[in-house]
Amino acid sequence: MKFQSVTGTKDLLPSESFLWQRIENVARSVFERFGYAEIRTPVFEDTNLFLRGIGETTDIVGKEMYTFKPSPDSDESLTLRPEMTASVMRAYLQHGLGGQFPVVKVYYIAELFRKERPQKGRYRQFWQLGAECIGSALPESDAEMIAMMMMIYDELGVTNATLKLNSLGDAETRTRYRAALRDYLRPHYERLDAVSKERFEKNPLRILDSKNPDLQEIIAGAPRILDYLDEESNAHFEAVRTYLDELGIAYSIDHRLVRGLDYYSRTAFELVSADLGAQDALGGGGRYDGLAEQLGSPKPIPAVGFASGIERLWLAMERANLLRNIPQKKPDVMLVAQSTKAQTWIMKTANEWRRKGLVVEVDLLRRSLKAQMREANRLGAKFAVIAGESELQTRKFQLKNLRSSEQTEVEEERLFDAIKAQVVESL
Ligand code: HAM
Repeated sequence: MKFQSVTGTKDLLPSESFLWQRIENVARSVFERFGYAEIRTPVFEDTNLFLRGIGETTDIVGKEMYTFKPSPDSDESLTLRPEMTASVMRAYLQHGLGGQFPVVKVYYIAELFRKERPQKGRYRQFWQLGAECIGSALPESDAEMIAMMMMIYDELGVTNATLKLNSLGDAETRTRYRAALRDYLRPHYERLDAVSKERFEKNPLRILDSKNPDLQEIIAGAPRILDYLDEESNAHFEAVRTYLDELGIAYSIDHRLVRGLDYYSRTAFELVSADLGAQDALGGGGRYDGLAEQLGSPKPIPAVGFASGIERLWLAMERANLLRNIPQKKPDVMLVAQSTKAQTWIMKTANEWRRKGLVVEVDLLRRSLKAQMREANRLGAKFAVIAGESELQTRKFQLKNLRSSEQTEVEEERLFDAIKAQVVESL
């Protein structure tokens, strides 16, 4: 029987993992420059965390969660995390992090699970890199979050993307706006599709999200939430916009941007790429000042965050030819054995040099000299050292520079330094 990976999941193969690591490393470096520390939470949580946190009327909770019982007769219900924000807030509250630091700034690189219909850029297990800033209600933290997200894309070279911005106001704004939106949509009700009819009652804001071409005209004429903002949210939004302008971060206001998770309030943003097709959202986020209370906090705790899909980032980089320029770490030296005795010398020397920091390859198939040299070239090794009986006797070795084909005889005690010096020089 032949097994295949399950639909909607992906293997990351050794030939591409260095590219993935590059994305992670750039993200980590940016997060750290903004003073964010990593958080890791469990892959599964109490199902109620997501019901309460993300919202029962959302697509994620309604139909996309992988939910299971730990044992058939258990009352407990567990769910593979479909996103990180609820888990991070759960950890923040559980460990009283707010009592230790007035503002908690964390980042994550995590795998998530959503039972979606798989297609290009949409998987059932996928990765996000993201961050959450908990404890500040001020527009500085929104602007900083967006700046941090944009810096990651910028440093990875992804520039063909548009930042969309909107504000969802406070809870009252949304109540007023929901009513206005329903009033507007009511005369068009019969023209709505089945999904939108369902949303009409439960969550009419999501109708604005619809990609159904037949509904675009109706949606274009809908009232705009920014016209319903409460005074404070309006001032907050203006301040975020001023900061973004000052930071030189371009954006466009998108009145239809409502995001698919229920916890958002005030600022909402999304980065979309024209290179991605139907699943065009590279990343998104926003402010979620009500989530902590939803999860049982006795007082509101303001917070803002974002998350980016790593597979989509990868796709965007691939389309823009950016993956080609990422250098792969190559061996510094391949030690080539010509006899059994030399094999032992090689094993010992390789171990010593690796301990001292060189990347050293050794043939594990006892191949011929010619085949080993071919392998050294295939791997892109910078040097080869050939060890045979005579070299072991004279303690002098042929050091071959595989880039220039230059060959020199070097005494055993000087070999490491000779290679090290030239490896450093060629960096
Ligand atoms: P989200 O918009 O659901 O937000 O997901 C963020 C990003 O994850 C998307 O823009 C997309 O790039 C990627 N993504 C989502 N679903 C999939 C999928 N099935 N396959 C591949 N990539 C996917 C959140 O998850 C929020 N927690 C973001 C946030 C953080 N808000 C505040 N803090």
